[in-house]
This record gives sequence, structure tokens and C-alpha cells, in this order.
Amino acid sequence: MAKYTAIVLAAGKGSRMGSTVHKQYLMLAGRPVIYYALKAFADSPVDEIVLVTGEGEEEFCRKEVVERYGLQKITHITAGGRERYHSVYCGLQCCENSDYVLIHDGARPCVSREIISRSMEMVTKTGACIAAVPVKDTIKTADEDGVVQATPDRSRLWSVQTPQTFAYPLIRSAYDRMLAEGAEEITDDAMAVERYSKVQVHILEGSYRNLKITTPEDLQMAELLMQNHKEEYRPV
Ligand code: CTP
Ligand code: MG
Repeated sequence: MAKYTAIVLAAGKGSRMGSTVHKQYLMLAGRPVIYYALKAFADSPVDEIVLVTGEGEEEFCRKEVVERYGLQKITHITAGGRERYHSVYCGLQCCENSDYVLIHDGARPCVSREIISRSMEMVTKTGACIAAVPVKDTIKTADEDGVVQATPDRSRLWSVQTPQTFAYPLIRSAYDRMLAEGAEEITDDAMAVERYSKVQVHILEGSYRNLKITTPEDLQMAELLMQNHKEEYRPV
């Protein structure tokens, strides 16, 4: 049986949120934001969960999140790094015996169990798949002075989410190469595979509900979603 590990990222500083408490620990419908992604993976068919926290926050997370809410399947709690990709790499080192990894932003509490299951299925056929939704707005590129340069064809634009799911050897070797060369502008995991392998990354239909908590209004949106979809998100 193939082994699936979820890497849940919670080592960011949440600078765009502007709160004193890091956004992953802010309360959302009565629980810390990070609880929900961990719970979704614990309730899914994944075998193990690696939680990547800020340096020095490991014990706090173990006591105040994992033990406090009785979250299962968490086999490692490890410190992340300066950039998101550093944190992912820390997580990858904790699951070297896995066949597949699902890399997820802990700041996406509204991920559904269904997206997780579909990612697990699709990765066995593709080796690399990412949740995404079609963009709703027209997107433009502009220069540094704010002058519009181009309007890409909207029908081909996707707003990328997590989980991003890969065969372990594929993502590991892409990350090894990327870090050896100096990563800089890498903002998601698929970019490493796009640049450092020949494997094609497939899009899996995500959900507009699977938003990332980035600024204060996202927290309000997530609160509303949780109220309106209690069957999916209510703590059990
Ligand atoms: N993340 C991480 N390690 C980092 C940076 C980010 O584990 N060095 C995680 C965050 O905790 C979050 C996810 O990656 O769950 C997505 O990142 P983002 O939304 O950018 O979160 P932050 O970096 O915390 O926020 P900001 O960019 O506003 O500072
Ligand atoms: Mg960030």
C-alpha cells in the first residue's frame, strides 16, 4: 500500500495580516486557524501528518493545538525556515519513506476532505497535481509605474491553491536541485517541478471556499463559510 503524508505549513509570520499573534493561531469559529487543516487531514485517508511550525513554536503547537484538540496522525512537529520553500524542505526531510506528499498551507482552513481524497487519487496517475480554481476577475500585467502592459486570456488563468500533491521522489529531487541552485522567486511547490523536472503538473478542480487567510477580511469570510457549512467544518 502506498504511503501518503500531508505536510501542513504553519511557519509563516503573517505579515500581511498585521496581527500580534501569528495568523495560524488566531481564533476562527472557536478554534485556532491551524486546527482546521490538521483536522481535515486527520479525517482523510492520509497516513501521516507532518506539522511545520515557526522555530521555537513546536512545543506550544504540540500542547495547545495537537494535544488540546486530540488531533491524530501527527507524527512529526518540526521547525520551518525563512521562506515558505525552506519550510517545505524541512517537512520533506521528515517523510522520506513516503510515496506521496500533499503539501498544504496551514492558512487554508476550509480545505475539504473531498479535495484531499481527489488529490490522493489523481497523483497516482499524474505524479504531480495542484488544486486550483479559474480566476473570476480579469487579470492585467502592469509595469512599475502602474501602466497596463497586457491582458492575458482569462480562460487560461487559474488561481492556485493547496494541497499540491506529488510523488515523493519527484518533489524531493526538484527541491534538492532548486535549493542547490538558489530558489528566490519560487512561490509554490509546483514551480519547482515545472523548472527542475520534465513531469507535467496537472490541475485538479479546487474550491472557491478553499481560501487562504492572508488579510483580516479573509478571516471574516472563513468565519461565514464555517457558519454556513457546519456539516463540513464543525469540529467533531
Ligand atoms: N509558511 C511557512 N514558512 C514560511 C512562510 C510561510 O510555513 N517561511 C506557511 C504559512 O504559515 C502559511 C503558508 O505557508 O500557512 C502560506 O504562506 P502565506 O500565506 O504567505 O503566510 P505568511 O508567510 O505567514 O504570511 P505573509 O506572507 O503575509 O507574511
Ligand atoms: Mg508569505
